[in-house]
Amino acid sequence: MPKTKVFVTRLIPEKGLTLIRDFCDADIWQDELPPPREMIFERVRGVDGLVSLLTDKIDGEVMDAAPHLKVISNMAVGVDNVDLAAATTRKLPVGNTPGVLTDATADMAFALMTSAARRIVEGEKYVRNGKWKTWHPQLLLGADFVGATLGIIGFGRIGKAVAKRAKGFDLRVIYYDPSVPSAFDAVPVDLDALLRESDFVSLHVPLTEETRHLVNAETLNKMKPNAILVNTSRGPVVDLQDLYDALKSKRIFAAALDVTEPEPLPADSPLLELDNCLIVPHLGSASKYTRDMMSLLAAQNLIAGLKGERLPHCVNPQVYD
Ligand code: DGY
Repeated sequence: MPKTKVFVTRLIPEKGLTLIRDFCDADIWQDELPPPREMIFERVRGVDGLVSLLTDKIDGEVMDAAPHLKVISNMAVGVDNVDLAAATTRKLPVGNTPGVLTDATADMAFALMTSAARRIVEGEKYVRNGKWKTWHPQLLLGADFVGATLGIIGFGRIGKAVAKRAKGFDLRVIYYDPSVPSAFDAVPVDLDALLRESDFVSLHVPLTEETRHLVNAETLNKMKPNAILVNTSRGPVVDLQDLYDALKSKRIFAAALDVTEPEPLPADSPLLELDNCLIVPHLGSASKYTRDMMSLLAAQNLIAGLKGERLPHCVNPQVYD
């Protein structure tokens, strides 16, 4: 009996791939770069299932190019690259990979926060560039943690995991998330209070029309001059031009970004000229175990969808109504 055909838009970890190969006839995109849009159209034509990544725009046009499609399995917790309304209209379940990347992403937020606060990257460049002549009492002074306030915007799984880590650093934790009215170890506040009071602001919201450019000139102007902004959510949550202006004029102390708009950040981005802006290439979930587990969940969602079963992690359960 022929196996079901699926398209996997990149070489994902073997953990999930083995499962997919056992169950399906898998066409796996081998390049380092994502498949161009035209190529996605071509490759999805005869498939029953699609495993996509956050770099692939999966909209109604792609869905219509795949008339046999039964399931879209996105190997990410964020699904802003998939047009969920279009999928729901077409009764296509969309899977994601929540939970397994919570700790890795919270670890990254903390790594960025501590690196920006203690100017680790600047220090490292200083040494490599042969500038280290002596110990100096005023050299590369950074920020302290004990007693400082961490403001978390978006208090879901990852926001909460960041709060847990903050306790070990004796930070006071406040958060803004209208969907979480109270929490055991953090104080809910409104957005203005959070911006006004926080020494560290960490973003953990999904990208939606409401959160797009949530951090802009107006919100940055409400932050403390010593504030450090950390973004491990989605690039477009921050208006990078406004952030550049705030960092250049020292309106805030520093920013540490795991995500940018666009990705990759162009090599001539003015942000790259700033010492108080640390940028890494969307590595939040990039630990071996986490990526293995993400690939496994993606495979499980895919296979459930192909069998006509409910996806273990479905972001548009309305398709089952
Ligand atoms: C996700 O899963 O949404 C993350 O951004 C991947 O790192």
